[in-house]
Amino acid sequence: MVISCWGALIRKLLMMRPQVVFVLGGPGAGKGTQCAKIVKKYGYTHLSAGDLLRSERSKEGTEYGELIASFIKEGKIVPVAITIQLIKKAMEEKMAQDSAKNTFLIDGFPRNADNLSGWNNHMNGYADVKFVLFFDCSNEVCIERCLERGKASGRTDDNAESLQKRIQTYMQSTKPIIDEYEKEGKVRRVDGAKTVEQVFLDVQKIFDSEN
Ligand code: C5P
Ligand code: MG
Repeated sequence: MVISCWGALIRKLLMMRPQVVFVLGGPGAGKGTQCAKIVKKYGYTHLSAGDLLRSERSKEGTEYGELIASFIKEGKIVPVAITIQLIKKAMEEKMAQDSAKNTFLIDGFPRNADNLSGWNNHMNGYADVKFVLFFDCSNEVCIERCLERGKASGRTDDNAESLQKRIQTYMQSTKPIIDEYEKEGKVRRVDGAKTVEQVFLDVQKIFDSEN
């Protein structure tokens, strides 16, 4: 009797643990666009590391505003101590509002080895990584999309100069992280060069079979 009570409690706690899908791909590969559609259909909470950093950058009196601004413009990856704190706070706030909302899309993270070790140090045991959704898209298409977006996005890094650096960071630092997850069988790859609707059809196949 006692054992079965404990069993039920442990099952409940495990069920409520945040369940995370990392969303990766080059700049402009479609991460944000597809995340919005996944949120609508599957009820995940979308946390974009880039959005969290941009919003921290523009806060009044923030300690890290200038650092974040210069890293973003240079296409470099902000130290994980800053990023992980923002991600964890956003997850905790969501779970505090509604503990049943425990599925998260973490978009644009982990972007390098520092991001990954920060996640392992702070989040192992707190959240489970279900899989990595990878939008595979050529550098040419990524650059073209970001330049197009740059006409209206107001982003300081959607310009040719920053994009060269972002692509370089992606190839040197992010791709190896995706490759590591691939070896663990955790990557679900989607062809990100197709149209938004075609990509979402492929995304749905993945989420329907994982859930
Ligand atoms: O994902 P997104 O394109 O919005 O990221 C924009 C920029 O935010 C990156 O080029 C990088 O400078 C910063 N970033 C970061 N660490 C992350 C995600 C984004 O430093 N994990
Ligand atoms: Mg984005």
